[in-house]
Amino acid sequence: GTDQAKQEAKVLRVGSAIDFAPFEFQDEGQKDYQGFDMDLIRAIAKEMGSEAEIQNIGFDGLIPALQAKNIDVIISGMTINDERAQKVNFSDPYYQSGLTMVVRSDEEAIKSFKDLKGHKVAVQIGTTSANMVKDMEGVTVTELNTPADCFMELKARGVDAVVNDRPVNDYYIKQTQAVGVKSLEDKLSAEDYGIAMAKDNADLQKKINDALKKLRENGEYDKIYQKWFGT
Ligand code: ARG
Repeated sequence: GTDQAKQEAKVLRVGSAIDFAPFEFQDEGQKDYQGFDMDLIRAIAKEMGSEAEIQNIGFDGLIPALQAKNIDVIISGMTINDERAQKVNFSDPYYQSGLTMVVRSDEEAIKSFKDLKGHKVAVQIGTTSANMVKDMEGVTVTELNTPADCFMELKARGVDAVVNDRPVNDYYIKQTQAVGVKSLEDKLSAEDYGIAMAKDNADLQKKINDALKKLRENGEYDKIYQKWFGT
């Protein structure tokens, strides 16, 4: 009805798995979700004349939530790939990423991805990392709900490596008190993050892309980038 139409014009319902610093996370004692994606989607919503209302949804529940129309967009460090593009529309790419590994500091056997054979690896469920390692021969894969769970499992010696997105691994090592672990240089893939929308929402896709373009042109994108990734 008209109430619903009014609502949709003002509020952009965003889904994100708030477990992926520095893209989306929540600091203790902070009420608002923080991170690069959070700042970017708030800026995009503002540009569109609406306000972002962000819901925390487990990563593997995001596309189902979009398909059920519980949310309008996903921003969650989500890699654009063919499999997902069957189910959702993606915006233009907004961040270049890739996959790396975290191992224990005293790890000698694992130096690159080819060394994973014969080892146990933890990944976040539903991610490109999970797909990648499940395709590797001789690798035992443990799928957990969040990257934090994966890092805990590594420290507890339940697994020998964590495969996860490079900027998240780097942030974990540098910004947190990551004791006893190190991230490796070897990079497995080049991935682009995109904002996802329902297949039947081409109008929203155009609005999001226009807003993203505007933010790149007016320097706002760079400001947000510098805030989270600048040195
Ligand atoms: N880039 C990877 C993927 O798309 C991982 C994303 C995980 N995001 C998150 N918020 N936990 O599969």
